[in-house]
Amino acid sequence: MLKHDTMGSPKIPAALIAGEADVTPFVLAAMARTDNPRLMQIVTSLMSHLHQFVRDTRPTEAEFEFGLRWLAALGQHTNESNNEVVLAADVLGISTLVDLINNDGTHGETMSALLGPFYRGESPVCASGDCIARSDTSGAALYFSGRVTETDGQPIAGATVDVWQASPVGLYENQDAEQADFNLRGKFATDEAGTFSFRSVRPAGYPVPTGGPVGALLRAQQRSPMRPAHVHFIVSAPGHKTLITQVFFDNAEALVGDAVFGAKRQLAGTLTEHREPHPDYPGAPLPFFTSSYDFRLVAGTPCFPIPPITGKATKGSGR
Ligand code: BEZ
Ligand code: FE
Repeated sequence: MLKHDTMGSPKIPAALIAGEADVTPFVLAAMARTDNPRLMQIVTSLMSHLHQFVRDTRPTEAEFEFGLRWLAALGQHTNESNNEVVLAADVLGISTLVDLINNDGTHGETMSALLGPFYRGESPVCASGDCIARSDTSGAALYFSGRVTETDGQPIAGATVDVWQASPVGLYENQDAEQADFNLRGKFATDEAGTFSFRSVRPAGYPVPTGGPVGALLRAQQRSPMRPAHVHFIVSAPGHKTLITQVFFDNAEALVGDAVFGAKRQLAGTLTEHREPHPDYPGAPLPFFTSSYDFRLVAGTPCFPIPPITGKATKGSGR
């Protein structure tokens, strides 16, 4: 509240905003009593950079309103089966930057890759070798196997391998009312030798959801919404840092063009096509594919992501 002088007119404090140059110091001063040092550091840096961004780009008021509406639309398009906020962080490269800051892969562990917006958690627990296609799912069969080891190659028994992927039509089950609940999702445990295996369908590349504000941005930037074909993994074991990653099965052009910058050289998987029956895969429909990938975990504390979505789209809700 302004004090009044003896004549009754308000006393104007000298330190009041009088022009553009005063705003940033005034805002930073208003936050000076923040007693959480990390919050102080983050918000001070954020404000300084955001204010500088505004000074650099000098938005018109119409542009400012447009930007605010775009941000609000991220929230409006976020629901139990779609997380537009995570998607925005992904297509802007921020998720991969944060991932690489926290997981640089320099301790002999498998490289990580971004979680993406379609991790549901609570996937069904499966027996070794089970098929994760829970409803009629088109596409060639994929038999995937691997090992979970320490960084020195020692097997880790009892590790959990949580896997999820899109169907060959390019939709995760949460986006597609035609697919069974938890289709192409499952959790496997490693045996004494650290091995695990499951059956699935060969994944295909797919577009990230383009029906919301993120899609509008991609179109305005003339960017492809496509992700290369991949399978997601969260590999965890007591006493080890949890690994969130993806294994890719696509050509170089698709890997380089990944709309969310998630593809990494170290995560390129291999697919072997089988056109003849194989004794290790009796009854496999021809042709089928096999793939193998070993995951190395580094010692540390397990830590699990909060699922960005919790449920499944209902019929007709689209994406
Ligand atoms: C995904 O791989 O599931 C994904 C990642 C980022 C954005 C959209 C989808
Ligand atoms: Fe994905």
